[in-house]
Amino acid sequence: MSTDGSSALYWDPLDPSLRDDPYTLWKRLRDEAPVWHNDRYDFWVLSRFDDVVDALRDHDTFSSNHGTTLELMSPKPIETGLIILLDPPKHTLLRKLVSRAFTGRAVSQLEDRIRQVAGDLLDAQVGAGRFDYVQDFAAVLPPTIIAAMLGVPETEIDTWRHTVDQFFHIEEGVGVFNETSLAAMQAVTGLLAEQFDERRRHPRDDMFTELLQAEVHEHGHVRRLTERELLDFGTLLFSAGTETVARLLGWAADALDANPDQRAEVAADPSLVPQAVEEVLRLEPPSPVNARWSTREVTLHGTTIPAGSKVLLLNGAAARDERRYPNPDQLDIHRKLEMHVTFGYGIHFCLGAALARLEGRIGLEETLKRWPEWTVDRDAAELLYTSTVRGYQKLPIEV
Ligand code: HEM
Repeated sequence: MSTDGSSALYWDPLDPSLRDDPYTLWKRLRDEAPVWHNDRYDFWVLSRFDDVVDALRDHDTFSSNHGTTLELMSPKPIETGLIILLDPPKHTLLRKLVSRAFTGRAVSQLEDRIRQVAGDLLDAQVGAGRFDYVQDFAAVLPPTIIAAMLGVPETEIDTWRHTVDQFFHIEEGVGVFNETSLAAMQAVTGLLAEQFDERRRHPRDDMFTELLQAEVHEHGHVRRLTERELLDFGTLLFSAGTETVARLLGWAADALDANPDQRAEVAADPSLVPQAVEEVLRLEPPSPVNARWSTREVTLHGTTIPAGSKVLLLNGAAARDERRYPNPDQLDIHRKLEMHVTFGYGIHFCLGAALARLEGRIGLEETLKRWPEWTVDRDAAELLYTSTVRGYQKLPIEV
């Protein structure tokens, strides 16, 4: 289980000793075993950039419908309205429907709101000398914005945010799926159902109403989202769009503090912020592992993955593949970055990517406006490392 390059190659996605540095081991996977099998848990791993992209593109061979998180995978396809777990044709239909309510225009209209929420949260810390960049800021911004985007009334946003917080409760020895997190998901489903009911009675100019009214033609019929699909989609927005953006902002604060010259450049010239955000996304993917189920036998680099296998696609390893990126372990805000796979690739490409980029940009702009420098208290910082997410849960900074 060593990461030092000398021992037998073995990767366990839940091994806590890899929390601080999974990258040394992922490099060995890329170099020594680009198609690797974990005999203990019976799953396969692809780690090179080209292989991860090809697999994400080939959604017929690599299905999402058996689960995309290792612990939740099953040989039986999952009955769900969650688009992230669907294959075509159902995925195509639902994605078309929800994309209408999630256009670039709808997202860019949120700019002022994001700036105001980010500004208020950061202003509250001015003069404090020290605060937790993730707990006090990065984790609060995303659910507040998703609630506002859907059309949750202003006075109720705090209640929603605190309930969504509990989604990410981790119970020692139980993991991310525990009583507290499941109860929180149920509570948000209830809150969503109330809002949809209210919009059925009183339609408004908001995303709840748009989702209710979105129409698509299926087998010659006009089709709307079912209640289950509406609720699943709303819950997915909060779960996919909260933790990931919180981790992105945490990684940005960490990576820029570790590279003070680049931070000084970005602080002096805010037009560099978008490319800094993009490079942080490449360097530290908040969601570094995405699972798939092979629907047929696949042979790659001389190794055959049987049909009906669990296959983990390591976005996190692809991000550091030296075959794709020179000097991959280094933050370089001037890198010519044509693409990365931090938001996935192909039909499941992150629906919230534009929103995540906007929150990342504004969050960082507003931070740099107030503090062109900060110091991360590395001894007190806490990294979270689950089977799907990696990033800071606590990131105290001195300002
Ligand atoms: C830095 C922030 C984010 C990262 C790193 C991220 C990452 C990803 C990745 C890797 C996928 C593809 C999963 C797969 O192929 O199995 C995905 C899908 C998705 N993301 Fe994000 N995400 C982020 C922010 C958001 C936000 C802000 C939202 C919404 C508010 C969102 C909503 C979704 C949805 C709905 C899907 C499923 C799309 C589909 O299956 O067609 N994400 N995200």
